[in-house]
Amino acid sequence: MNIDIFTLFPQWFEWFASQRHVANVLSSGSQLHCVSYRDHTPLSGGQVDDSPFGGGAGMVLRVDVLDSALRGHYGVDPLQLRSQRRVIALAPGGRLLDDRLVDELAAERALTLLCGRYEGFDERILEHFASDVVSIGRYVLSGGELAAMVLCDAVMRKLPGALGDEHSATEESFSVALGGHPEYPHYTRPAEYRGWRVPEVLLSGHHERIAEWRRQRSRERGEAGEPPDTR
Ligand code: 6GU
Repeated sequence: MNIDIFTLFPQWFEWFASQRHVANVLSSGSQLHCVSYRDHTPLSGGQVDDSPFGGGAGMVLRVDVLDSALRGHYGVDPLQLRSQRRVIALAPGGRLLDDRLVDELAAERALTLLCGRYEGFDERILEHFASDVVSIGRYVLSGGELAAMVLCDAVMRKLPGALGDEHSATEESFSVALGGHPEYPHYTRPAEYRGWRVPEVLLSGHHERIAEWRRQRSRERGEAGEPPDTR
């Protein structure tokens, strides 16, 4: 997969790209590329945002700056870009990121992520250049960068080569394999600690009983929490 991230803070992603499972994916043929809005702005002094029309606090990312950055990087009219690849603006009011959306994005060949700052994007960016608006939760972050990292982390760990064991992403929390329920509880050595015993079934070596126990626990956890992600 080829991921391009448009941001005011490209250096934030250097740390992210160095994390083990991200680095594994990047060395298996995927690419993560950061583009700084400031390197492409047509305005003087590296200006990229402006105060909102109608008044109010904060700054808004300008539509002309975004147009230049996309055109400068891709060399095409950015109006055509969203028919060629997902162009995802990260904003608190967008579609909530969940395992279903992560799977959908992990199946793409290329993604473009747009990070806003402060009060976010001029609405015309979302209307004309973005194919999607995605949020990671119902709270406000001071910019889209951390949300972009969350999205990339969740997507990249689904790609081949990310995890040591190829199966470990298929039966995890909220996956199709678990019927959209949270993951079952895990235990490791010691089998007893301060009198707390690991469930006997897990020590039994009886694979069918273990699988049934796990399905059961996963379902119970699902009933106690959010409704399952059914698809
Ligand atoms: Cl994607 N952006 C910002 N600025 N705040 C958020 C968010 C995104 N998702 C939740 N809060």
